[in-house]
Amino acid sequence: MTLGRTLPMMGLPVVVVGAKVQGKANFCTVAWATMIDDEPPKMAVVMGKDRRTKDGILENKTFSINLPGAEQAAAADHCGLVSGHKEDKSGVFDVFFGKTLTAPMARECPVNVELTLDDIIEREGTDIVIGEVEEVYVDESRMTNGVPDIDKLQLLMYLSSGALYFTKGRTVAEAFKVGKDFRPK
Ligand SMILES: Cc1cc2nc3c(=O)[nH]c(=O)nc-3n(C[C@H](O)[C@H](O)[C@H](O)COP(=O)(O)O)c2cc1C
Repeated sequence: MTLGRTLPMMGLPVVVVGAKVQGKANFCTVAWATMIDDEPPKMAVVMGKDRRTKDGILENKTFSINLPGAEQAAAADHCGLVSGHKEDKSGVFDVFFGKTLTAPMARECPVNVELTLDDIIEREGTDIVIGEVEEVYVDESRMTNGVPDIDKLQLLMYLSSGALYFTKGRTVAEAFKVGKDFRPK
């Protein structure tokens, strides 16, 4: 069976991007997010041209990538349904600031990544916003022996396109190990 020239269904982490726009925190939900480098650590988010959050990223050259847990599903969905162009979203989360002083972060989210703007790749349909990681904040109660614990984090995932939110289920295998003895038939 073929589905045509469309995006496939994929399980993606869903993040909430934060930026200060004209003095107020604004948050935008993004499922098209990825890590792009580890030294120095860089991440990228794909954003529509009209996102108010992108105006704030350009204004301050800083932003945040907040990783919501299952408990933040409704707040994250709200930030993806309503634009800051129409409604003030500064009260959706308890906001805190880190070392850049201008990247608003959502305290309720178990992981917050603070970034400085590295580059924006302007494309016809969407823009790719690249940031360099300045700091990562993790809720201590979600860690075990000083390491973020995936079972405690319960990070919110999203099944594209527009289907549902889910969180980690069954562990399948250990990465970088299970393939070591694999031999093609
Ligand atoms: C689950 C979900 C995923 C989304 N993913 C993206 C995305 O990857 N990129 C994007 O630009 N908008 C995405 N959106 C839409 C924006 O979050 C939405 O347009 C938002 O209102 C923009 O807010 P702002 O204008 O205040 O920045 C997503 C929305 C939802 C609900």
